[in-house]
Amino acid sequence: MAKPILLVKSGGEAAIPEWQAHFSEFAPQVAVRWWDDQTVDPADVRYVLVWDPEHGRLRKLPNLQVIFGTGAGVDFITADPELPRHLPLMRMATPGAAQRMGEFVCWAVLSLLKGARRIATNQAAAKWEYFEPDFAAPETPIGIMGLGNMGSRAAAMLQGLGFPVHGWSRTPKALPGVQNHVGPEGLDGFLAASRMLVCLLPATAETRGILAAPLLAKLPDGAGLVNVGRGSHQKIEDILAALDSGKLAGALLDVFEREPLPADHPAWAHPKLMVTPHLASLPSRRERAQYVAKAIATFERGEPLQHLYDHARGY
Ligand code: NDP
Ligand code: OXD
Repeated sequence: MAKPILLVKSGGEAAIPEWQAHFSEFAPQVAVRWWDDQTVDPADVRYVLVWDPEHGRLRKLPNLQVIFGTGAGVDFITADPELPRHLPLMRMATPGAAQRMGEFVCWAVLSLLKGARRIATNQAAAKWEYFEPDFAAPETPIGIMGLGNMGSRAAAMLQGLGFPVHGWSRTPKALPGVQNHVGPEGLDGFLAASRMLVCLLPATAETRGILAAPLLAKLPDGAGLVNVGRGSHQKIEDILAALDSGKLAGALLDVFEREPLPADHPAWAHPKLMVTPHLASLPSRRERAQYVAKAIATFERGEPLQHLYDHARGY
């Protein structure tokens, strides 16, 4: 009997041999094929591993059983108006992804604290300018918006560096050492306590445009901002204005409404802003293949899958 097919759209066609090698080790019962392989009969496809499938494509796979997202956020999949919503949609939630995100957030926060943008600008101009950071880690409470797989790991790692950590989530959380603020009623107190704000929220109707002037106004003067959630969370003009006015002392943005960020966008050149190209956390292909293979085995045993997208919550 032919093997069930897993169609992969991640890293382009050139990445398929690597995906095949990993899946032959972790899930030899499935055949991995490229998303656009014209020789594949759609009826043979049981699984897909995708980031941004063309709208309407998933609906044309009559025997599809599980959709695996290659990222933690699956907003580029749920944007498909014809998405088969009855199928399980599983998010990437590997421990390695959370570890990488924690590393990135620690690096971003330390970069803002130590003036990394200013140091890099000075180096490019061969300018020897001595300056000292205003605060050390224990005097710099960090506020993390979103305490899920990514946010909770970042919270633990930041505490290891000596930062006090506050977290904001939709439902209450009990994370060691983290002062938890909950829901809309907990937001103002959370913002007032956050000398640096880190956004690790999912893209939902409720979180769209949240990083805008009204929210920034509630932060301490001279706060720092790190957005590693989604571009849809931020109003970039408001962030640039807050940097210009000094309300924000610095910011690091890893995600943008339009990616790649156009070369003529003012964000690139702003002296207080660091721009990174959506690279905060991507687990290796091997790690992602192992995670998906384990989930396929779980599914084939008839057991429930974890880390499923919830259409009612929007994440
Ligand atoms: P999770 O679903 O595990 O966690 C989401 C967190 O956000 C939860 O704590 C949830 O609260 C909270 N949340 C959701 N909606 C609200 C709301 N309206 N108000 C307050 N809190 C809310 O997601 P992950 O941690 O795995 O990933 C988070 C996001 O990070 C992804 O969706 C993606 O956008 C982004 N990301 C970016 C990457 C990059 O490279 N830049 C890489 C990976 C992820 P509760 O716990 O109560 O449910
Ligand atoms: C994301 C990811 O969701 O890269 O951004 O995992």
